[in-house]
Amino acid sequence: MTLSLLGRVSADIQRVFASRFGEDAAAHVVRSVQPHFGHFQANGCLALAKPQKRAPRVLAEEVVTGIRAEGFGWIERAEVAGPGFVNVWVKPESFFELALSERSWKPAACGASVRPQGLRVLIDYSAPNIAKRMHVGHLRTTVIGESLKRLLRYVDCEVVADNHLGDWGTNFGLLLAQAEDEGLAASELATQTLEALEGLYQRARLRAKDDERFAAKARAHLADLHAGETGALEIWTALCAATRKEVDAVYARLGVAFDMWRGESYYRDRLAGVVEGLLSAGLAREDDGAVVVFFEENLARLGGMAAPKAPFIVRKRDGAFLYSTSDIATLISRNEELSADEILYVVDARQSLHFQQLFALGKMLGLGARCTHVSFGSVLGTDGSPLKSRAGNLMPLLALLDAATEKARERMAEQGIDLESDVSADTARAVGVGAVIYADLRQHRGSDYRFDLDKLISFQGNSGPYLLYAYARIASMLRQVDSATHVEASLDSLDVHSAVAEEVALAVALSAFPDAVAHAANALEPHLLADHLYSVAREFSAFYAACSVLGSEGAVRARRLALCHATAQQLATGLELLGLEVVERM
Ligand code: ARG
Repeated sequence: MTLSLLGRVSADIQRVFASRFGEDAAAHVVRSVQPHFGHFQANGCLALAKPQKRAPRVLAEEVVTGIRAEGFGWIERAEVAGPGFVNVWVKPESFFELALSERSWKPAACGASVRPQGLRVLIDYSAPNIAKRMHVGHLRTTVIGESLKRLLRYVDCEVVADNHLGDWGTNFGLLLAQAEDEGLAASELATQTLEALEGLYQRARLRAKDDERFAAKARAHLADLHAGETGALEIWTALCAATRKEVDAVYARLGVAFDMWRGESYYRDRLAGVVEGLLSAGLAREDDGAVVVFFEENLARLGGMAAPKAPFIVRKRDGAFLYSTSDIATLISRNEELSADEILYVVDARQSLHFQQLFALGKMLGLGARCTHVSFGSVLGTDGSPLKSRAGNLMPLLALLDAATEKARERMAEQGIDLESDVSADTARAVGVGAVIYADLRQHRGSDYRFDLDKLISFQGNSGPYLLYAYARIASMLRQVDSATHVEASLDSLDVHSAVAEEVALAVALSAFPDAVAHAANALEPHLLADHLYSVAREFSAFYAACSVLGSEGAVRARRLALCHATAQQLATGLELLGLEVVERM
């Protein structure tokens, strides 16, 4: 197996540490953040000073001597720096090949991926609720989930993307009662907008507050639906159809696609069985009429896992099932019917207790799939409060994507781009939507962030448009060149010895791709890939400012074209892994 550049440098320097300071001495090799610190840095000497009873700089001197003595093929020079760091520079010829060949970018090709090939991973993401518009709260789950799907497929996992719609909630009783009162037939409901259905629901809610007869009717309708009564089911189906039409439009805009749509309703006939099963296994018991799982009464079955702080109610006193019951049925099915090895729940941080409880119960049931709550913070407005629409509701997602597309169009107009053609309409959409996706994914997913449309559509700085533009600029330059020249050139003919510092820096940046993808996929953190792409785009700018490409000749031209080609390929591959659509012209 060929290692990534970081993998190779780390492994070699680690051997020097082990032979000098013992097997346990960790070299801690990382990429340097600044060019004058070299390409890589070994930081391990600081921690070794105490156990070795010597100054870190003395240890670093010894490492440098060791590296020189080994004469590694990749090394150009090594130096001691600061309080005891070892900075190393690599020879261009040792990694140009890695940088330029797309084949070596797959983490599997360099052993950097932690998940074995073929691992079956189910990703539960997006999951909006029926008869309501998707709002800004659905943005993060949708784009993070989609990116994880693409990243895990890229590292050769077998991924199932499941949209677990909230399509069996208690709001249906009210919707059904109000629809009946307003004389709305199923066929009419199916063609309503979700905004209209939200209105229907609001009217029902207000009325149920002080009209007990209406509230009772709503409860009866809910019971009818749960009993499978035909009329109620027909209305429910119509509400699902209306929802599906609109959420599909949102997904088309975002470029998001699922493999299955098993909403809560898919599991509805299993809820009673789940509760019976828990009771008969002694995992749940009746408490004041409800059925409850008390974790601290089952510590032995938790196998060392911490007991969640609150009990899990799985059936209410009135006999109704809950979100918890539905998720237990879902978890069992994903283990037993879908044979998932791992399940990722991409849901906001506020549901963390629910998932702790669910996963603990899964453990008690002996379900094998490894479960992770991939949680994330909120999207805030520029004033730091939750992002609202002018009407005061949470901002609808479609409105937000429209606004971003419009803003992208304005920016393109400022640049004198002809906006009449279909191509530029598509481009404005890709840039606007891509800007929103990128602004979300470049954040550490655990933090909240402020949604600032002007900033995220900017063509400068760490933004989607900046990266899309970097790609389009290279693509348009490469269109001026006979395409065979830059792809076919062999390493020998590229004469990498004569590469200038900016070319080397770009190649070093490109060679980090497999590590970045692997880190992002391993940690389920797309921002690690976003950071990498941004650094590639920046190194490209520096290279392009310093080096003439089309104006150069012979081996130099071939090498620079190869770098341009690889940069374009890598930006396209990486941006697609984040869920953006690249455009060829801007
Ligand atoms: N529909 C839920 C909500 O809007 C999210 C569902 C997440 N998935 C799950 N298996 N609980 O909060």
